[in-house]
Amino acid sequence: MAERPQVKPPIGVFDSGVGGLSILQALRAELPHENFIYVADSGFAPYGERDQGFVLARARAITRQLLRQPELAIQALVIACNTATAAAIQQLRQDHPELPIIGVEPALRPAITLSQTGRIGVMATRGTLDSRKFKALLDGLAPLAHFICQPCDGLADAIERNDTARINALSMQYTRAMGRFGSEPGDVDTLVLGCTHYPFASQILQAQVGPRVHLVDTGEPVARQTRRMLTSPSLESRPGECRLFSTGDPATLQVAAKRWLGLDIQAQRLPG
Ligand code: DGL
Repeated sequence: MAERPQVKPPIGVFDSGVGGLSILQALRAELPHENFIYVADSGFAPYGERDQGFVLARARAITRQLLRQPELAIQALVIACNTATAAAIQQLRQDHPELPIIGVEPALRPAITLSQTGRIGVMATRGTLDSRKFKALLDGLAPLAHFICQPCDGLADAIERNDTARINALSMQYTRAMGRFGSEPGDVDTLVLGCTHYPFASQILQAQVGPRVHLVDTGEPVARQTRRMLTSPSLESRPGECRLFSTGDPATLQVAAKRWLGLDIQAQRLPG
């Protein structure tokens, strides 16, 4: 009897919703021969204004599901969410010491390199900005630049719902609150998108802060880090495959993946 070809275990990627697709996009570009499973925890989104215990419990539940079911079993996990990384990465690494786990955090270091004025805006969820992990990062870098941290309640949710009017209004409100943008001394010249949903609002944000302001996200560095952490990278020459799951409405994820990544595949429901 002919042996079935071994299927390469996928890399698991999850976020509270569709935002982590911005990380999946970078991962697919960096690792085109790997298979991916993307989970949008939309049934429990948004994470950003919830307490850390809730987000930790969700991250643990999703990781267990991705490891337990043989047809989903993953070789590595990317937490494509700043809020969940801050709340859960330490615990997940303790829970699963054998699994390479890669997280995301607001790109403060790259922003320092880009900024000329030394004034850097940081947009993120309240959960990320209030976390111990983020505070430690900020404390370490505070002497090198002036960071203006702006919690952006509701913005990830508006992006999740593709509600352009609300994205516009909230982006305007939050960028205004950070002060003057531009390239003159005293201006904020670099804006960190510290939530994986925000790159999908980057056109609106760029129009609001002006063309000279750098917008910085974390997709590419996370994808490079994932490549470094893989213990047995794919040797396949054909393109890898993606599977999409949602604990909420799969149609929302499917439409977002098509709109933003050009991925034309059916999303499935994953029981929460
Ligand atoms: N995309 C997530 C992040 O990077 C959080 C969005 C949310 O659920 O509030 O933080």
